[in-house]
Amino acid sequence: MPLLRVDNVGRSFGRLDAVSDVTFEQSKGEILGLIGPNGAGKSTLVNLLSGLDDGRKGRIWFDDEEITRTRAYARARKGIARTFQLVKLIAGLPVLGNVMSGRHRLGSINLIKIAAGLRSVGVEEQEFAAHARDKLDLVGLSHIDSSADCDTLSYGQQRLVEIARALASEPALLLLDEPAAGLNTEEARQLQALIRRIRDEGTTVLLVEHNMRLVEAVCDRCVVLHLGRKIADGPFATIAQDPQVRQAYLGQGR
Ligand SMILES: Nc1ncnc2c1ncn2[C@@H]1O[C@H](COP(=O)(O)OP(=O)(O)OP(=O)(O)O)[C@@H](O)[C@H]1O
Ligand SMILES: [Mg+2]
Repeated sequence: MPLLRVDNVGRSFGRLDAVSDVTFEQSKGEILGLIGPNGAGKSTLVNLLSGLDDGRKGRIWFDDEEITRTRAYARARKGIARTFQLVKLIAGLPVLGNVMSGRHRLGSINLIKIAAGLRSVGVEEQEFAAHARDKLDLVGLSHIDSSADCDTLSYGQQRLVEIARALASEPALLLLDEPAAGLNTEEARQLQALIRRIRDEGTTVLLVEHNMRLVEAVCDRCVVLHLGRKIADGPFATIAQDPQVRQAYLGQGR
């Protein structure tokens, strides 16, 4: 039984078919790459999967339950978490608070108290904070000052905080939209190990990425989009030799 099943989903913006008739499955524990040239429809598809957008075409199943009409917050509660192509952290909230905010679906915490710097917080907030610190450790940020405002961090660190926040909800499926964008070579190398670790700890990962070294290193399989359509589906070694895939990327000079 696949964890995720996508059947003929689509999304149009006016006359542009950003995603057309895309069908694929992802098994539990499989690291799936979702790749394709700029404008292929990857982020649009991630929005459809996370429920941020409703394409009104096709059907989606998660954990054998149809979620096509399920709203984003309810999908999050069912175990789908995501990060954004452009980092979206809550400005003015410390690093720790940002990570804790991701755990919201698993309990009620007072974000105002967290924003105030964790003074006079209850037992539940303390548990959330301890849990958030575990996630910061997991993404390799144990050394940073978690009470600092998130915009004092480097771009690469902010990306990792966003991943920690997504992991705070203990998701079954994590959708990463270009997590390596803006990272230096060393940070991208560490991301490779982190994605494997996330999978090994029980979260299935769908990775949208342009960094082919990273895709080749971590993905068990790749779905390739071009102009909104799926043009290939298979192991990296196979799709990398696919003439249609090569042509799609050549057209973009990648
Ligand atoms: N809200 C929107 N309104 C209109 N057109 C949109 C919207 N969002 C995306 N598009 C268009 O849909 C197509 C797919 O965009 P999308 O962002 O999904 O591509 P992508 O594969 O994520 O590209 P990139 O690798 O550059 O991030 C593009 O032509 C884009 O301009
Ligand atoms: Mg995108």
